[in-house]
Amino acid sequence: MNFKKKILITGGAGFIGSHVIRKMVKKYPDYLIVNLDKLTYAGNLNNLNEIVNHVNYKFENIDINNVKAIDSVFKKYLFDSVIHLAAESHVDRSISNPDDFIITNILGTLNLLNACKDTWGNSDNNCFYHISTDEVYGSLGETGFFTESTSYDPRSPYSASKASSDHLVRAYGHTYSLPVKISNCSNNYGSHQFPEKLIPLIINNILNKKPLPVYGKGENVRDWLWVEDHANAIDLVFHKGKTGETYNIGGHNEWTNIDLVYLLCDIMDRKLSNNEGDSRKLITYVKDRAGHDLRYAIDATKIEKELGFKPSLNFQVGLEKTVDWYLDNKSWLDDVTTGNYQNYYKQHYK
Ligand code: NAD
Ligand code: TYD
Repeated sequence: MNFKKKILITGGAGFIGSHVIRKMVKKYPDYLIVNLDKLTYAGNLNNLNEIVNHVNYKFENIDINNVKAIDSVFKKYLFDSVIHLAAESHVDRSISNPDDFIITNILGTLNLLNACKDTWGNSDNNCFYHISTDEVYGSLGETGFFTESTSYDPRSPYSASKASSDHLVRAYGHTYSLPVKISNCSNNYGSHQFPEKLIPLIINNILNKKPLPVYGKGENVRDWLWVEDHANAIDLVFHKGKTGETYNIGGHNEWTNIDLVYLLCDIMDRKLSNNEGDSRKLITYVKDRAGHDLRYAIDATKIEKELGFKPSLNFQVGLEKTVDWYLDNKSWLDDVTTGNYQNYYKQHYK
């Protein structure tokens, strides 16, 4: 079959990547979508059951740090575009084991950039689109927002590795005229998120009647965006964003951690027909995260004005949908919380 575009999506078996792949494979049957993923603890091919048999979808089990394998996969498919999501993504793991973050997030990104530079000329048909985070901008006080021109000030090994990869992507755009785009998004939530991150961890712990660990006083603020809205924004930036530009993506949806946990407890109690307040009794304040950033908040004016992006769901509705998905997919949670997860949990939460 002659495909209109051949797109490499890295990290497609993870949380956000699987939403992007499901959307692109179904929406663009004339594009070939190749998912390249190492399948770390965070990668799960079951996330892609819905599209696995589509003729425009292929999977390659490859580590982005394997230079030879990357070279041969580029020769095999002759990609015209890359959407790069593969990364080590959890801040707490980056604090206890930074090395993997440097290797995958920085060196792995460098390998992909080199593969594109060596394969592509300066054609307008090519695009290296790097998916990044608002955490590269550091931490806000009580007021203010991150814009695309906010100075980088990463403060965790995770955000430092993502900031470094952003700089490399821009440097390849500037130095080698590689056609690059970057977007920096706020915290995502939704189905298929690994339960090390706050929202699925709280849902899983309520289901198992385990303590709900809130770091410090629970006063840190995050700006939450439904993962499907992030996938929509990625589609927009990929097709309509200007080459060489950066777009901030966010949901105008700031919550302190403790208010978010209260809201989740109340939704869960209602859905599980618990007594009112049962889940709130499980809340346990634990030692704060080292170097815990106080507040993230995105100014998304640029993507809204230039590309017409708008989040589609309000948070209450998005959280209800998210909780419903985890309740309907308990076997998914059970599968990913065996073995290594138990060791991680014991070690991290002592
Ligand atoms: P995730 O941890 O759920 O998934 C990461 C995926 O990358 C997994 O499928 C994993 O197997 C794969 N991977 C890891 N190392 C690899 C390697 N060396 N080679 C090939 N594949 C590898 O992450 P996520 O939350 O879906 O995040 C995806 C991207 O979006 C990341 O780049 C992250 O920095 C960025 N991001 C995430 C958020 C968020 O809230 N989760 C917000 C903004 C940006
Ligand atoms: P997380 O989901 O790890 O995302 P990020 O660190 O990238 O923002 O954490 C979201 C917020 O929740 C963050 O302020 C840390 C806090 N948190 C807890 O209070 N308890 C937990 O067990 C976890 C995992 C996070």
